[in-house]
Amino acid sequence: MSVQGRRVLLCVGGGIAAYKACELARLLVKAGAQVRVALTPAAQRFVTPLTFQALTGSPVATDIFSAEQDLAAGHIALADWAELATVAPATANLLARLRIGQSDDMAAAALLAIEPRRWLLAPAMNEKMWASPAVQENVRVLKERGARFVGPAVGEMAERSHVGPGRMSEPAEIFAACADALAPRDLENVKVLVTAGPTREMLDPVRYLSNPSSGRMGYAIAEAARDRGARVTLISGPVELPRPADVEVVDVVSAEDLARAVDERLDGVRVVVMAAAVADQRPATRASRKVKKQPGDETMTLVRTPDILAGLGARAQRPMLVGFAAESENLEENARDKLARKKLDLIVANDVADAFGKETNRVLVLGKDGARREVQGPKLSVAHAIWDMVRERLGG
Ligand code: C5P
Repeated sequence: MSVQGRRVLLCVGGGIAAYKACELARLLVKAGAQVRVALTPAAQRFVTPLTFQALTGSPVATDIFSAEQDLAAGHIALADWAELATVAPATANLLARLRIGQSDDMAAAALLAIEPRRWLLAPAMNEKMWASPAVQENVRVLKERGARFVGPAVGEMAERSHVGPGRMSEPAEIFAACADALAPRDLENVKVLVTAGPTREMLDPVRYLSNPSSGRMGYAIAEAARDRGARVTLISGPVELPRPADVEVVDVVSAEDLARAVDERLDGVRVVVMAAAVADQRPATRASRKVKKQPGDETMTLVRTPDILAGLGARAQRPMLVGFAAESENLEENARDKLARKKLDLIVANDVADAFGKETNRVLVLGKDGARREVQGPKLSVAHAIWDMVRERLGG
């Protein structure tokens, strides 16, 4: 995703990580973005307006009561101008103020006049502050309103003896997240269906067969499609992820639930992305009460679950189909075999060692038309690369 010519408002909060915001401003400018900067009063205790003015070539907004700044570009003018508002560092104080709408400085006032969906927040604070119930609740609420987050990263804090999540993400990573957030609206009103997460196949009311899929890749695919203007239905197995804003989420538990949910929601869908790690087998019977322990070994009979993708591939009228292949050996060969056997348009193959539970991913995308692309990076960037390939094949 390119930031060339795009308008980014960089809001800097008052934390030690503010110095890294200078590097972020430089990266954005170097990549051709138009950058304006707003500093909170606390930020000005760490970095100066002059630094950012020199880096961006534009005056910096620092004082909400300055008649001069108001004439040049007041908070509303800045908000109207910005396509994306990146907050780095997003301190605990700034997160709290954004949550309650307290806008007593330039940065917060401009932010409040921008929809949360266009905020990219890069939190930075001591790990104990980050873990506090107050901060976590603010983060949850801001996410529910559509704000996106990058980080915080795990690592050494300014107080050297402290290590934990709370460190601001590196400028290069925030830059990449800015680029993703500025995705083109090239899937406007395209109806897509995404599946994500594991399934659970119950043996009895308390035990089940499942896998460690976190759902992150599928959720990133749903969010990326939404950001590009698609109308997204996300069918999700049990995961511990916040619900993406502006996406219809359907919760399922078993492979059979998932098959049914897909079937019921296919009307008008142009692309199906099956990122769910669907169980291939389920116990033949499900006890209605908790099964009692038996002395000695036991044998369980498993039966196959429906192959949802293969079922869709076999239809005469079918949407574009994108499958996933998590492999532990012969990645490309196995993925090619699945691509053909399930009659898919694209398959995203990853090594199980790279895939489950991580923030980043490394994948090989193969197309039935012979396309072959390797992609590596945060799951949201990988998701955009997949949608780029879908878009190229979708037609008008
Ligand atoms: O054959 P395998 O399970 O490796 O195929 C993986 C792909 O097939 C994934 O896209 C997965 O979502 C999909 N799948 C499915 N129904 C199943 C099992 C897998 O649609 N029962």
